[in-house]
Amino acid sequence: MAEAIDEVLAALPMPVLAIDGSERIVAANKEATALVGQGLAGRHYVTILRQPQLIETIAAVLQDSQPRVSQYLSNDGIEDTTYRVTARVLPNLRVVMLAFQDVSHLEQAGQMRRDFVANVSHELRTPLTALMGFIETLRGPAREDAAARDRFLDIMQGEAGRMNRLVGDLLSLSRVEGDQRVRPRKSVNLSDVVSSVARTLAPLAKDTSVVLDCDLPDHPVSLIGDADQLMQVVTNLVENAIKYGASGGRVIIKLTEVARDLSLRAPGVYISVTDFGPGIAPVHLPRLTERFYRADSHRNRALGGTGLGLAIVKHIINRHRGRLRIESELGQGATFTVVLPLDLNTV
Ligand SMILES: Nc1ncnc2c1ncn2[C@@H]1O[C@H](COP(=O)(O)OP(=O)(O)OP(=O)(O)O)[C@@H](O)[C@H]1O
Ligand SMILES: [Mg+2]
Repeated sequence: MAEAIDEVLAALPMPVLAIDGSERIVAANKEATALVGQGLAGRHYVTILRQPQLIETIAAVLQDSQPRVSQYLSNDGIEDTTYRVTARVLPNLRVVMLAFQDVSHLEQAGQMRRDFVANVSHELRTPLTALMGFIETLRGPAREDAAARDRFLDIMQGEAGRMNRLVGDLLSLSRVEGDQRVRPRKSVNLSDVVSSVARTLAPLAKDTSVVLDCDLPDHPVSLIGDADQLMQVVTNLVENAIKYGASGGRVIIKLTEVARDLSLRAPGVYISVTDFGPGIAPVHLPRLTERFYRADSHRNRALGGTGLGLAIVKHIINRHRGRLRIESELGQGATFTVVLPLDLNTV
């Protein structure tokens, strides 16, 4: 009988152990010993599983033979792992079997979802609160004041625009996340993409007194990719460079082909966007591509940013099997380089 239990447990891919009617552990597979320790056979379960919630559950199952679910937390010194433990009586074998299912990733996903909802709500609430405040003012104190009314309507338009951009970026992010695993198939002329972004953003550059330079190879550069998405990437980077690096007065977009990129281990194309503005402090660099992350939140909120641009950029580059490199020194400006494989089917 004991051998049969051992065989069943060994066949299961998760930590599993069995407790008999005398409350002792009679069998455990190697996943279970890795989780709770060696030398389990013959030990009382209370001395091994020292967590009150789980111990109570097991006692109850031993008492009335009804299946139950409990929890077990472990820590390997680096991170916490949460297990969902099912305790069920196997009448023929006369044991209670405990199976430990690692549910940490579910918990993490839940936490990420809650954070995301909290962030979105907060981002929407700020402009909404401003709008509601101005509506109240327009109904009350500023009712007869034409000059104030115009000024408030301008601000309201700005805030509504911000909400609109935020919703647009959220939709774009969810679309990009949705097709992240679908490989692009069409050929894209990157030289055209870069020139067209430069044309589109010329008015913004002019308004902020920034000279926008394009440095393109003298032959067209093409690769397999999604033209609209790559346009979105370059637009985002150049827009950031103009907005946040305006004080440098100049932004350079450069397209280069390389015979072999070390990180890709393949031929690649670099699109780099350089500005000469205030730069980004090193502490911010690793987090810039997180959703809603802004290096200088007050100033950048004033500039209309939602903090989603680089998160979208990152997803699109992942879809193209590329890399994003960010280099910056405070006071010297910043360079964002998109590294794309010439043929994404070979990396
Ligand atoms: N060239 C740059 N110079 C200095 N800071 C930058 C530069 N590019 C990005 N940043 C910082 O990185 C943050 C994140 O940029 P991102 O494009 O993700 O968001 P955003 O520009 O605030 O909003 P969105 O692009 O959605 O309108 C910015 O808020 C800014 O603080
Ligand atoms: Mg941006």
